Amino acid sequence: MANSLLITGASQLLTLRGSGARRGAALANLGIVKDGALLVRDGRIAAVGTRAKIEAMPEAGSAEKLDLGGRVVLPGFVDSHTHLIHAASRAEEYELKIAGASYEEIARKGGGILNSVKKLRAATSEALKKRARCALTQFAAYGTTTIEAKSGYGLDVASELKILRLHRELAAEQPLDIVSTFLGAHVVPAEYRGTPEGAKKYIELLTEKLIPEVAREKLAEFCDVFCDRGAFTRVQAEEILKVGKRNGLAPRLHAEQLTRTGATQLAVKVGAASCDHLEQVNSGDIAALAKSKTVATLLPGCDFHLGLGKYAPARKLIDAGAIVALATDYNPGTSPTMSMPMILSLACSQLRMTPAEAITAATVNGAYALRREKQIGSLTVGKFADLAVFEVADYREIPYYFGMNSCWMTMKRGVVVHAADEAKA
Ligand code: NIG
Ligand code: FE
Repeated sequence: MANSLLITGASQLLTLRGSGARRGAALANLGIVKDGALLVRDGRIAAVGTRAKIEAMPEAGSAEKLDLGGRVVLPGFVDSHTHLIHAASRAEEYELKIAGASYEEIARKGGGILNSVKKLRAATSEALKKRARCALTQFAAYGTTTIEAKSGYGLDVASELKILRLHRELAAEQPLDIVSTFLGAHVVPAEYRGTPEGAKKYIELLTEKLIPEVAREKLAEFCDVFCDRGAFTRVQAEEILKVGKRNGLAPRLHAEQLTRTGATQLAVKVGAASCDHLEQVNSGDIAALAKSKTVATLLPGCDFHLGLGKYAPARKLIDAGAIVALATDYNPGTSPTMSMPMILSLACSQLRMTPAEAITAATVNGAYALRREKQIGSLTVGKFADLAVFEVADYREIPYYFGMNSCWMTMKRGVVVHAADEAKA
């Protein structure tokens, strides 16, 4: 009994109840309970419903109490695509981009991902961890309770393993869940570049040494490949993902971001958990995703930050029946933000998703993309009490306000991990 918490006073409690991933019209169904309440026991949701129903439970009387004062509560955001560990910003490139240089031009001159690789290799584990911890505090402050984190700025054996070990250490030392992904195939590092043999050698390093080592140490659940011009081809991606799969790492892909490579079709073929970006998809790709269980993860923060003006066709994907998720893609090159509410704002104004669809994409479908849908993503009895409370009375105000933080409280497994000043009083 001592570990029970009664939460009341939710003007709208967004349960997102139901099972499995959401497609089509189901994305708009938030399962709202007005004047809602929750009973949390030992970090999990023990009961959910109206205040009258939950308060009448015998256990409610002796539970600790939290009154949300008419605010909106929803499942904590599941940010299913981040590049958490990196050494520094790339603000110097931001200025070049504003002046007209393209992302690919900067990358060709040794900037871009290789710039971040140089910085990461020179950084100590302590410095990387300190930066990541600050970021995790920010993720929590904006209502996120689980993130995926990719390696990919090390690109040699020692540095990639260093990043993945940091994922594990950070997961143990702070409250948010971190789902680890191996992205050794981000780009070919400088020391292997310039010739086809070099790229081949680097892929051999990935498939023969790094992936088996990552699997042996259980350092990642997923294997990702950046399949694009200037990164890896579809054929190379298929080889890497196959080896990953053989080693127990489930595939996911960076697909159709800068150019269309056919990576979406590959994602569907290999049964990838998700394929992410999708700005350049065609109608065949949309149809393939609609028929598959591969999540279409949209990352509008990239298009916003790079000023590209071309966003992924979210409406077409939803209307065709694809499982659409939203994530920040937090990284120093294309999307330096930890704010899921900002991503929701972009999803609504730029991708033309409704506020309800955007919330579903950022919770239930994000959880599905990480294969965590049985534990998180909705306020359902038995799932973890991971929740976000917003300083609003109507859920549509969450994306409506932008460039500011209206997250009032974040709770991970029933424990407060972020509280706005007014909530601390
Ligand atoms: O998701 N597209 C590849 N990877 C990142 C960008 C990485 C970078 O520029 O540092 C992305 O956009
Ligand atoms: Fe990414």
